[in-house]
Amino acid sequence: MLEIKGLNVYYDRLHVLKDIGFEVKKGEIFAIIGANGAGKTTLLRSIMGLKDIKSGRILFNGEDITHLKAHKRAEKGISLSFEGGRILRTLTVEENLRLGAYLVDRRMFEERIKFVFQLFPRLEERKNQVAGSLSGGERQMLSISRALMSNPGLLMLDEPSFGLAPKIVIEIFEVLEKLNRETGLTLLLVEQNVRQALKIAHRALVIEAGYEITRGTPEEILGKKDVMEAYLG
Ligand SMILES: Nc1ncnc2c1ncn2[C@@H]1O[C@H](COP(=O)(O)OP(=O)(O)OP(=O)(O)O)[C@@H](O)[C@H]1O
Ligand SMILES: [Mg+2]
Repeated sequence: MLEIKGLNVYYDRLHVLKDIGFEVKKGEIFAIIGANGAGKTTLLRSIMGLKDIKSGRILFNGEDITHLKAHKRAEKGISLSFEGGRILRTLTVEENLRLGAYLVDRRMFEERIKFVFQLFPRLEERKNQVAGSLSGGERQMLSISRALMSNPGLLMLDEPSFGLAPKIVIEIFEVLEKLNRETGLTLLLVEQNVRQALKIAHRALVIEAGYEITRGTPEEILGKKDVMEAYLG
């Protein structure tokens, strides 16, 4: 579904992504794992079309989207839940969801909002509250839901566990796993939380300082003692 080839990305002279390449298959959960500053957010922003790349190609469903603008990529079915559960704090839960649904018609909006409220019932209870009054976990749920409102084919998630209590992290990951299992939605997940990401991922890529360290199934990666000790703690 998604093919990344030889991606090189810079901030001025800082070389942030170094020849990164991988494929995400339709229906799988693919995890990118890396510590602080590894380049995870930059990678997702590059795929979304929010960050210029120096070289490389990005294909989505066989089509070269390397030079498409972000909104065109969104129309093709790519959606990003931002780092830190970023949402608009002064708008209500429902208004935030409406923003995520700008690509869909009224009937689809009703369908999608029902769908995300089933995934996260707490959001329905709080639909008229301003998003700034939500807990960290609820904001993350809203961020994921906002990204789901466009009915994407590929959902990209930037550290959905960040800053959350372990119990909430487990709850959110259970929903992501269920979303993939029951609807077949393809997920590209970036995480520092190695154990949690490897629990739900079918395959993963480990990056450090913009380089690929290793890739494989969770079992293969967990079995690489040297990698686990050096990069994953
Ligand atoms: N807007 C920017 N301008 C300049 N350098 C940046 C910018 N954003 C990120 N960087 C640098 O690029 C590198 C990769 O950053 P990035 O945010 O992609 O990493 P990350 O893996 O998402 O980290 P984290 O886990 O902290 O979110 C870092 O060295 C960072 O300092
Ligand atoms: Mg990041």
